[in-house]
Amino acid sequence: MKVASIVGARPQFIKAAPVSKKIRKNHHEVLIHTGQHYNEEMSAIFFEQLGIPKPDYNLGVGSASQGKQTAEMLAQIEDVLLSEKPDLTLVYGDTNSTLAGALAAVKLHIPLAHVEAGLRSFDKSMPEEINRILTDHVSDYLFCPTQTAIDNLRNEGFTNVFNEGKFVSEFCDSPLVCNVGDVMFDTAIYFGKIAENKSDILNKLNLGKKEYLLATIHRANNTDDVGNLSRLVKAFCAFNETLVFPIHPRTRKSLSENGLLPKLENSKNVKLIDAVGYLDFLMLEKNAKKILTDSGGIQKEAYFFKIPCVTLRETTEWVETVEDGWNTLVGSKYDDILVAVEDFWPKGSQRQVFGDGNAAEKIVEILSRNEN
Ligand code: UD1
Ligand code: UDP
Repeated sequence: MKVASIVGARPQFIKAAPVSKKIRKNHHEVLIHTGQHYNEEMSAIFFEQLGIPKPDYNLGVGSASQGKQTAEMLAQIEDVLLSEKPDLTLVYGDTNSTLAGALAAVKLHIPLAHVEAGLRSFDKSMPEEINRILTDHVSDYLFCPTQTAIDNLRNEGFTNVFNEGKFVSEFCDSPLVCNVGDVMFDTAIYFGKIAENKSDILNKLNLGKKEYLLATIHRANNTDDVGNLSRLVKAFCAFNETLVFPIHPRTRKSLSENGLLPKLENSKNVKLIDAVGYLDFLMLEKNAKKILTDSGGIQKEAYFFKIPCVTLRETTEWVETVEDGWNTLVGSKYDDILVAVEDFWPKGSQRQVFGDGNAAEKIVEILSRNEN
């Protein structure tokens, strides 16, 4: 089987790594990087650290408005798919690269598989929510990470669901919805151990274990709304403890344009650094006292590593992390952030909601069984 895998943004490299490895055992993969993320610390470092093969195509699309970026990707992916003629196209998550890949494939009648299907924040002001809904509704294979994702799809009319621990044993009609577990769990378990030996970030930043907070922000609602961004900066500078803040380029740009960078740079407790590679970031996560984030993937990783998570959003698609008591949603409200940093301590145990760490294997097995 010839599989065209489409990636473009930081979290997609992490999701694609285990799947790509399994695909290449018995199949032929053509890897297409849209170029949505292009800085060394947002792209190349992940290929190197996770051992992802060099993309066969880098479309170099880069940054632009929602419509322009998606349109440019769509046009270029279509050309590649027309010339490569894959048997299947594989897309990940909820970025503009996901949607562009999905649209290009289905319009060419190439079967489409969506990894991380069925997630919903029920907030259509987020571009990711639009990307998820549209991609799911044109996919032939919907690989869900959780039971909640399966339930969301059932509610939207998907009926061909294989779940409840059962594995698909024979050819199934499309679209096929399966709970395979979360591919980010596969990657985090595997590289979490490697990070312990390979990352020197704690020494480099002079950090003691469980003696610092870790923060990231990059969502439009936080970076493009200056009121929200200012409140987050004010809160970060008000903590009585060290806060490590690896900064997404989008956030640096917005902080700089709004005159907020000096406040962070001059703050006694904030260690502002560029975004780091995966191994360093895993190490920072595993040893943090608490994590503050608006990232989807980081909410999950906090849960995997049993680190209390304070989510700087009003909604989340990863509801299990909140239900289990390991994540609290505070938005960008100054007082709520300070209270959560002081008082939020998870009490409950965790269910095994993200699978058993073998999601990639299940995905490739299902695709192989249904190969015709
Ligand atoms: C994108 C995804 C988001 C995902 C995030 C992961 C969409 C709509 N958004 O958001 O779902 O959570 O990636 O990090 O697809 N920039 C650089 N260098 C880079 C990349 C970005 O400078 O390598 C800056 C540019 O100013 C760009 C801005 O970041 O305009 C936003 O980048 P973009 O890829 O459009 O969206 P993200 O916020 O990264
Ligand atoms: N990450 C990283 N370095 C950083 C910040 C995040 O390697 O400086 C990793 C993190 O471990 C997680 C992923 O990037 O696996 C999350 O990506 P991001 O927050 O950009 O996107 P989202 O998950 O919100 O789509």
